[in-house]
Amino acid sequence: MTSPVSVNFQDLDIDKIAGAEGRVAVIVTPDGKLDAAARRANKLTKGALARLVESEAWEKKKAGDLVTIAWPTGMAAEALDVICLPRSAKPDEVRKAGVALGKAKGKSALLVLAGQVRRPVDLTLGIVLRAYEFTTHKTADKKEDGDVTLMVAKPGEIKSEAAAALAVAEGVFFTRDLVSEPANHLTTTEFANRIAAMKDLGLKITILEEDELKKKGMDLLLSVGHGSASPSKVAVMEWKGGKKGDAPLALIGKGVVFDTGGISLKPAAGMEDMTMDMGGAGVVAGAMRAIALRKAKANVVGLVGLVENMPSDRATRPGDVVTSMKGDTVEIINTDAEGRLVLADVLWYAQERYKPSGMINLATLTGAIIVALGHENAGVFSNDDTISRNFIKAAESEGEGAWRMPMGKAYDDMLKSQIADMKNVGGRSGGSITAAQFLQRFVKEDCPWIHLDIAGVASVKADTKYAPKGATGWGVMALNRLVADCYEDG
Ligand code: BES
Ligand code: MN
Ligand code: ZN
Repeated sequence: MTSPVSVNFQDLDIDKIAGAEGRVAVIVTPDGKLDAAARRANKLTKGALARLVESEAWEKKKAGDLVTIAWPTGMAAEALDVICLPRSAKPDEVRKAGVALGKAKGKSALLVLAGQVRRPVDLTLGIVLRAYEFTTHKTADKKEDGDVTLMVAKPGEIKSEAAAALAVAEGVFFTRDLVSEPANHLTTTEFANRIAAMKDLGLKITILEEDELKKKGMDLLLSVGHGSASPSKVAVMEWKGGKKGDAPLALIGKGVVFDTGGISLKPAAGMEDMTMDMGGAGVVAGAMRAIALRKAKANVVGLVGLVENMPSDRATRPGDVVTSMKGDTVEIINTDAEGRLVLADVLWYAQERYKPSGMINLATLTGAIIVALGHENAGVFSNDDTISRNFIKAAESEGEGAWRMPMGKAYDDMLKSQIADMKNVGGRSGGSITAAQFLQRFVKEDCPWIHLDIAGVASVKADTKYAPKGATGWGVMALNRLVADCYEDG
């Protein structure tokens, strides 16, 4: 797996600036005040830094912006990165500064003189999250990644504070790797193996195979995987860090390792993007990893449905009627509306088996949510104002966009079928909402539930706030924050 870059924390020692290799970063306030480290860098560079902060260009800089002085005179470093940051910077501004550093870093070593920064952990998280690259399948690009060193006021304290943030970063990277991985490598079996390896972190892992899924009556999920040579699976990850007997929070993910559309085949253009259709399951796995790594004092269970949606002589046909684990029958009008079929059975199983205090499912469920919200926000659908408010607050504080969408009976009525209890599509209008209504039919009334449609945010073709273009890991930080703020004891 792609590991986050290693980060060291040291006492401030401005005598190290001249000889440091790779890149050196100093922090300067918008009004151009130089701290001891910046004054030393200025002296070494014969006043280059002072010229920069007295220039008009500097006046235009905002919190978190970066200016590079390349190959600075008097220093061994290849670059002197100057970060604009007020002393009173807000957490997201500090993270933004970190992101700018992480982007500039590339594979070089980086020394950050952060003695003045009030939130060095946010700075660290920004650097680490942005310094990600998926190089598994690049044969030539195996250059070693240079370390990050932060010189801070109290390195011992900061190091232990940063441990939780680095656990979350590792969860985010785990998710990004899964989402980036092509479907010939990330088969259902490989996905289950990567989850199973997390038993070393203290998670209890159960992999349910096709015969067990059949016995439990999960025919909706199985109907999606029928056409594929890869076996369908449900993987369960249990973290028991809370009080014994307390009902867990359940996280549920759509794990379609590739979505061809099935017999309702998708057009060729862009079909390669459907390698990310396991994004919901990827976020659940990454969040469980973060929760386990930082030993959260909460009970959380993650369940993912792993299937591949392929056309073949064994594949489900449009018009087929299939019975869900709940017992309701579904007329499958369009085999490309497969995610909801997978989730319906996993949601039902989660409630029957784990009696959760709440459920959050994540899925790259509809193209319609991209039409509605673009790539800035995931769609939030819920039957409960408290849990959705808590989630949106958690997402906002982590800088991950999330926007509440409406639900209601009129939308639900669009799922009526002539010959079965419901059909799996509701027509073109309100496509992401009718998908959510379909899921809600498999949620018990007294179970607080959120459906997150992450089709627009799981993988993006341009750089995003914390990630280079490609897989973002959206949701790992928000879920981790929600668990920390609302589900942990003490
Ligand atoms: N996996 C897709 C949704 C999707 C689209 C994810 C674009 C990421 C980017 C999902 O299974 C799907 O095919 N949905 C259909 C539903 C339709 C057939 C009712 C869609 O959105 O077109
Ligand atoms: Mn589909
Ligand atoms: Zn899909």
